[in-house]
Amino acid sequence: MGITVRPLHPHFAAEIVGGRLRDIDEPTFGAVREAFEEYSVLVFHDQHLTDDEQIAFTRRFGPLEETVRSIAQNTRVALQIADLSNVDPEGNTMAADDRRMLYHKGNQLWHSDSSFKRVPAMASLLSAREVPPEGGETEYASLRAAWDALPVTLQQRLEDLVAVHSFAYSRSLIAPDLLLPEQEAQLPPVKQRLVRANPVNGRKAVYLGSHASQILGMPVEEGRALLRDLLEHATRPEFVFVHRWRVGDCVMWDNRAVLHRGREWDTKRDRRVMHRTTVAGEGPTVPDPDVADAAAAR
Ligand code: OGA
Ligand code: MN
Repeated sequence: MGITVRPLHPHFAAEIVGGRLRDIDEPTFGAVREAFEEYSVLVFHDQHLTDDEQIAFTRRFGPLEETVRSIAQNTRVALQIADLSNVDPEGNTMAADDRRMLYHKGNQLWHSDSSFKRVPAMASLLSAREVPPEGGETEYASLRAAWDALPVTLQQRLEDLVAVHSFAYSRSLIAPDLLLPEQEAQLPPVKQRLVRANPVNGRKAVYLGSHASQILGMPVEEGRALLRDLLEHATRPEFVFVHRWRVGDCVMWDNRAVLHRGREWDTKRDRRVMHRTTVAGEGPTVPDPDVADAAAAR
């Protein structure tokens, strides 16, 4: 098939030209996979994938995550599809104060998908089915570029830190009662390393985002202030790539190495229909002490 990789930003992100994701052959898939590890964000135009095609392509990267059952879940799509639309299953645009829209508002905070899960997502693939004429862009920030630009003394201080990530925390930033108590109980806070290295090329990234609520072993406010400073640093304009959507686009990103956020649009006037598939991570970023203890005891 043959593809061309066209860089889109000085630090990361590339367009893949010439690949048809629905029937990509094995050597071409290998080249896409390589580009993914290298560029963190891959843009594919003119794909027009169905849900089944999107699921099949995403599976080639590894097992998929299933969506967390929430008030916003569209029950008419497969469990492997996260529906990020402002259109309800009956086809009507939702009111701005609809709880489902409030829930989606969380996507407009800088985040890494599923960092609130013990095994966080490796990659996400978002495809544009309907796009508004203005607004509704998705922005990406390179956590590798952010890491590289930190002073060495600060890098050394951060290297072994562990952050606590919590879905209830990030949703509380939107509205205090967004989660049902049983949902909150299903998603207890988890630990994530603050600094992660890519297993293929060793590139380090500072791993944080809206779900990161505190730093283990630090007073809550002090940890939160450090996370705030790092987030501000990581999302400086020079580390950010903006994707303006066209219908049929697919964008795939590496949740280990970038943050992303959606931008506002006129949700009352314009439809935006986006479907996401998510590749599960390979394991927890912090070894699970219970598992390690059990192994040591054998
Ligand atoms: C996502 C997400 C933002 C957007 O798909 O995980 O956060 O622009 N999307 O829709
Ligand atoms: Mn997201």
